[in-house]
Amino acid sequence: MRTSRLSRLARLAQARAGANPSNAAAGQIKIIDVSGGSVSSRMAGLTALTAGRISGILPFSAASSVRAISLSALQPSDRCEAERLIQSFLGAFPGVQAYVNKEMASKNQLYKNFIGMGYYGTHIPPVILRNVLENPGWYTQYTPYQAEIAQGRLESLLNFQTMICELTGMQISNASLLDEATAAAEAMTLCSAVARGKKPRFLISSKCHPQTIAVCQTRADGLGLQAVVVDEDKFEYAKDVCGVLVQYPATDGSVHDYRALVDKAHAAGVKVCVSTDLLALTKLAPPGEWGADIVIGSAQRFGVPMGYGGPHAAFMACHDEYKRLMPGRIIGVSIDADGAPALRMAMQTREQHIRRDKATSNICTAQALLANISALYGVYHGPKGLTEIADRVHGLAATLAAGATKLGLKVNSAPFFDTVSIKVADADKVLATALQHKVNLRKLDATTVTVAMDETTKVADVDLLLAILNGGKAPSFTAAGIAPGVKPALGGFERTSAFMTQPIFNSYQCEHDMLRYLKRLENRDLSLAHSMIPLGSCTMKLNATSEMIPITWPELAALHPYVPVDQAQGYAEMFRDLSSQLAVITGFDAVSLQPNSGASGEYAGLMAIRAYHQSRGEGHRNVCIIPVSAHGTNPASAVMAGMKIVTVSTDAQGNVNMAGLKQKAEANSKNLAALMITYPSTHGVYEEGVDEICRIIHAHGGQVYMDGANMNAQVGLTSPGHIGADVCHLNLHKTFCIPHGGGGPGMGPIGIKAHLAPFMPTHPIIATGALPDTPKDAKPFGTMAAAPFGSSLILPISFAYISMMGSQGLTDASKLAILKANYMAKRLSPYYKVLFTGKAGTCAHEFILDVRPFKDTAGVEAEDIAKRLMDYGFHAPTMSWPVPGTLMIEPTESEPKAELDRFIDAMISIRHEIAEVEGGKLPKESNPLVHAPHTAAVVLADKWSRPYSRERAAFPAPWVAAAKFWPTTSRVDNVYGDRHLVTRLGQQPAGGSGSEPVAAHA
Ligand SMILES: Cc1ncc(COP(=O)(O)O)c(C=O)c1O
Repeated sequence: MRTSRLSRLARLAQARAGANPSNAAAGQIKIIDVSGGSVSSRMAGLTALTAGRISGILPFSAASSVRAISLSALQPSDRCEAERLIQSFLGAFPGVQAYVNKEMASKNQLYKNFIGMGYYGTHIPPVILRNVLENPGWYTQYTPYQAEIAQGRLESLLNFQTMICELTGMQISNASLLDEATAAAEAMTLCSAVARGKKPRFLISSKCHPQTIAVCQTRADGLGLQAVVVDEDKFEYAKDVCGVLVQYPATDGSVHDYRALVDKAHAAGVKVCVSTDLLALTKLAPPGEWGADIVIGSAQRFGVPMGYGGPHAAFMACHDEYKRLMPGRIIGVSIDADGAPALRMAMQTREQHIRRDKATSNICTAQALLANISALYGVYHGPKGLTEIADRVHGLAATLAAGATKLGLKVNSAPFFDTVSIKVADADKVLATALQHKVNLRKLDATTVTVAMDETTKVADVDLLLAILNGGKAPSFTAAGIAPGVKPALGGFERTSAFMTQPIFNSYQCEHDMLRYLKRLENRDLSLAHSMIPLGSCTMKLNATSEMIPITWPELAALHPYVPVDQAQGYAEMFRDLSSQLAVITGFDAVSLQPNSGASGEYAGLMAIRAYHQSRGEGHRNVCIIPVSAHGTNPASAVMAGMKIVTVSTDAQGNVNMAGLKQKAEANSKNLAALMITYPSTHGVYEEGVDEICRIIHAHGGQVYMDGANMNAQVGLTSPGHIGADVCHLNLHKTFCIPHGGGGPGMGPIGIKAHLAPFMPTHPIIATGALPDTPKDAKPFGTMAAAPFGSSLILPISFAYISMMGSQGLTDASKLAILKANYMAKRLSPYYKVLFTGKAGTCAHEFILDVRPFKDTAGVEAEDIAKRLMDYGFHAPTMSWPVPGTLMIEPTESEPKAELDRFIDAMISIRHEIAEVEGGKLPKESNPLVHAPHTAAVVLADKWSRPYSRERAAFPAPWVAAAKFWPTTSRVDNVYGDRHLVTRLGQQPAGGSGSEPVAAHA
């Protein structure tokens, strides 16, 4: 097995090297001369390797060289192969110094798009483009678990939730989901959960977008539900129906009055879900006003580029009564230790990291950055500006409809907002004429085309469209000429209620004000632009500027995801090259680029495993073995893929309990579908028995799913494929440099072995599958995202990283990540207990500090240390996961030694403070730890009655004064916020029961 994987890898490497000319032509990475060499080495902190700057690190390590320490950290049975693997890997990307470039991007062709279907042209206001989307102060933030240093983005996300509630007319909104189609699937799951799983049928109107239908049907398949597509006039509200989904406006643009439908559904105890469009809701009566239970949609057209499919923020809003079943993060108002209002993530006990297999969703990474951009677009335009945009869009659509009628064509008589449905003699012919004019339309059926207007549409575009509809000849009238006589076509569904009346949406319509508001928010948040964010399992590494630059190039950003594929050849080339790179890196045969997050990757991998078993007549295999140490998304994803969870414990060293595993594999042999394992383990060590574990699972007919969140410790040294896994996801927003964006975006492509390749997800509009080559006999398990290649716009970031680093750079990066973790562990070990190490006494790329004893000796808990680190200008490590009451540190390769030393010194200084409490010099109930973090308001207040100085509170280390980062609130009270839940501006707090406090972790 080993040898064959090795030789396959070597073959791939040779192929990439161009030894095989046919392969070279198809899959070879493009080499463009740019000064990638020095840029890439600076990117990864690799200059340290050559310039000898790590000399300060090595004496602390158990081994005497970078090579030795990275090899000794590996599990023993991998070590002998690792050197050979490295050698073959090093040939994988020969001489690649380049990154995604204009030449590749310019192979995409920018046509005018009127396709609609949930994706629209939009103008991102330049003040937001430059100060948010292109600003590391925003895009390098982490998910706001540490609320005291995240009030800026929390405020913006609260604005997002408020805007969604205002536009939809609903009571509570979450702070984003991955895309509109998965949001619809989450709504379906919520309906099923409300019915306590007793009503398995969900009816979907045939007027919904095809991608929404496809994703819901796939999701239903895994969950054992039936998602049935029906003409909405024929909905039957039988006893087994938990909910229905309608689209408002519908996929053909028509707007329908659903009041009677809602009444009938509610009379039968059936929930009504509505997929909608935010811009349309500025003009149309909101679903909340006519009785919808759950409303979902995409916020893309509020200032986020189409980006060939994403990333964009989807949303879900619902009635208050379903709030505990709502998926995703919800931001809520609470108070801090001084009683001042403060924001934080609410009701975390709903989420998968707490509820695991009982969670109603596996969502973890969402689309925070994009939700913020959309919310800020709403803040900048305000209700008046949004209405003006909507009026213009509707006016252009109505003008087109009038013009088409004047041309003798039949226009759908139903009311519409932005999309006009037109009967033509031959839709293909009209589309062909449109293409000649560099215009994309949508063919609805053989004799119907739809034309969708957006914020970027011009009057001249309407003239062009009319000419296309007129067989390519300009008609005898112009759009400007007929526009004054055109009447609105909203058909009596006009919105009469005011919306977004809160001051926040009515105060920043001037760019100067907006600029200052953005800066104020940014200044409240700690990001990688300030200091290292040493979150174990999250890999907060450098997001290099050179990787980020292409994402706002129009050639990449302005592409609609459903354009004919020949207009997206630049993307196609990058997908081919990137998937080849990822296949080599993971040691697998192929890759799917559809999943939009790590958790989505898990779901995709498990659905592929399920389809594989079914294809062999073994569909009964439905047991998934998962170690207790697994991330919460693992069990949640397995449930979504229709699997039953069998848990296996870990031993004192954090390794999987082998005896327990053998016993559980044997006991479930007939039904074993899969095992999920994280490598290196979530405990920060290379699992000793991982090969054996894979062998056991395979011997019992199961498949091995590897959680690739810790890939940063594998690249170039070993690989999931080499170890024996069948499938693994990669968090491109960890190892491969996509920034975390304050809680998303992310990408979770999966690598697979050849036998799983036929089952990779496809798409109803742009067929896809395993890449770089989709097998001919493909039997896709379904569709799992709205866009065929997920969040395509951010893939150039990972592609640029891999290409600039090359195989040598990537391998060095893994070694450095391991080296730096071991350096930190070694320096900290006299002060804190390092909980787990491998047999060689080393950790992998992260390690856990056991701070539990301080609770007894000083009344100090992990949370106190986490909050005190803020006073030193640092973000906390991962707290209380995977081991409650501990801290998990991951430095990453890109952090310079000086930064590691500052963090280490802060931790040592904190240990001295704990010692002062232990020794009675500081009281347990009043010391810098329990009062942390210290805000400027607290430190500068007239009154100060604490037994330590103000200076010590705020400037606890020499370097802090030079660049003080001030937390803006004192410690936030989670329990208060959940008991008095407020999730939108202007809402009165609800009374009632609260959730338990929860720890912050990945
Ligand atoms: C070990 C592990 N697995 C899976 C995930 C889920 O990934 P995502 O947040 O991209 O869904 C995470 C996220 O932090 C993780 O740490």
